[in-house]
Amino acid sequence: MLQGKKILLGVTGGIAAYKAVEVVSRLRKAGAEVRVVMTREATEFVTELTFREISGNPVTVDMWAPVQHWNVAHISLAEWADAALVAPATANIMAKAALGIADDMLTTTLLATTVPVFFAPAMNSNMYAHPATQKNINILAERGAHIIPPGTGKLACGAEGPGRLAEPAEIVAALERFFAEGDRLAGVKVLVTAAGTIEPIDPVRYIGNRSSGRMGYALAEEAAARGAEVVLVSGPSALQPPTGLKKFISVETAAEMREAVLREAETSRIVIKAAAVADYRPKSVSEHKIKKNDEELSIILEKNPDILKELGQKKRPGQILVGFAAETQNLLQYAREKMEKKNLDFIVANDVTKPGAGFNTATNLVKIISRDGGIEDVPMMTKREIAKRIFDRVLPEQ
Ligand code: CTP
Repeated sequence: MLQGKKILLGVTGGIAAYKAVEVVSRLRKAGAEVRVVMTREATEFVTELTFREISGNPVTVDMWAPVQHWNVAHISLAEWADAALVAPATANIMAKAALGIADDMLTTTLLATTVPVFFAPAMNSNMYAHPATQKNINILAERGAHIIPPGTGKLACGAEGPGRLAEPAEIVAALERFFAEGDRLAGVKVLVTAAGTIEPIDPVRYIGNRSSGRMGYALAEEAAARGAEVVLVSGPSALQPPTGLKKFISVETAAEMREAVLREAETSRIVIKAAAVADYRPKSVSEHKIKKNDEELSIILEKNPDILKELGQKKRPGQILVGFAAETQNLLQYAREKMEKKNLDFIVANDVTKPGAGFNTATNLVKIISRDGGIEDVPMMTKREIAKRIFDRVLPEQ
């Protein structure tokens, strides 16, 4: 999977920097080309010469050094790479990357690159557990960075706990998995729906719901990062559409969503319905603003079409249909019933009563249930990380 891949390795100043030497060696054995960028602090732990010899390429440390190292002058590392890996990643580099600070070669390259970035944190366990570090890791993950979690054990400082750099073999395996999965989604058309629909009552009022669109946008972003041709159909949302989409279709009502989705689904291989579609809409929409009086006001609601059910009825062979189920009780039972009723291949179920799950949160806590009976319990993590888990499952067979 790594044959011919170009990996940019950032090495930062931690005691685990010596393990990065083995990472380079394993990457090269797997067929990858590696170029190393070190921070100044990293050179206190391992010399530039070691990385130059082991990678077979010049090593960059200082942004302002003359470019005589390079065979091709002014080669842009940021553009050259297929993926960037920071190992070990100190708390400091992740804080800088989260904030977009660019004050040396590595941070500047990380800011300039558009390729997938992997961070393999390594530090003292208190530093790792510190809310600042955890927040920075979440920011990076939310933006699509891949975090290779540290192991737990005895650390160089004598403490015990999480913070040990993941084993070099695990780090290389994470990259291998990424390329394997990424290639499998390349060119595949993926249709994602996101956010809630709004159903007008009169020209100024509507019935809506709390869906922010975050889960659907994270799914669209992840699919695009894996090379899919992504069409995102979204109800109103405050979010910026992710970059790299093939098409972004903005809709308001369930009827509009239905029309766009049925049209796009005809040519889509994977359809993921993360949108919170209103089940009912006002039966008649007042042409003028409804004026108040002293009486009660009743609004008659009529049923909206169930878009997902319709997609299930029309499903083509080989098409993969994924629904969402937000429940407050009997999670597994209700979710499975929805999967059957709507002829889905997968359903992503979440208990919206759990803290950190459901609407308008940055994180979620879900079960990915497949038609063949498999259940993956996904612990609380960012919606972008959940999106990754979903695509790891939902990939079509080769
Ligand atoms: N869905 C849809 N069209 C609708 C309603 C829902 O496509 N009119 C999709 C949602 O996008 C989601 C799934 O169906 O993927 C949710 O299933 P549903 O049974 O509608 O869930 P709820 O609306 O929560 O239903 P209930 O009130 O029965 O729990």
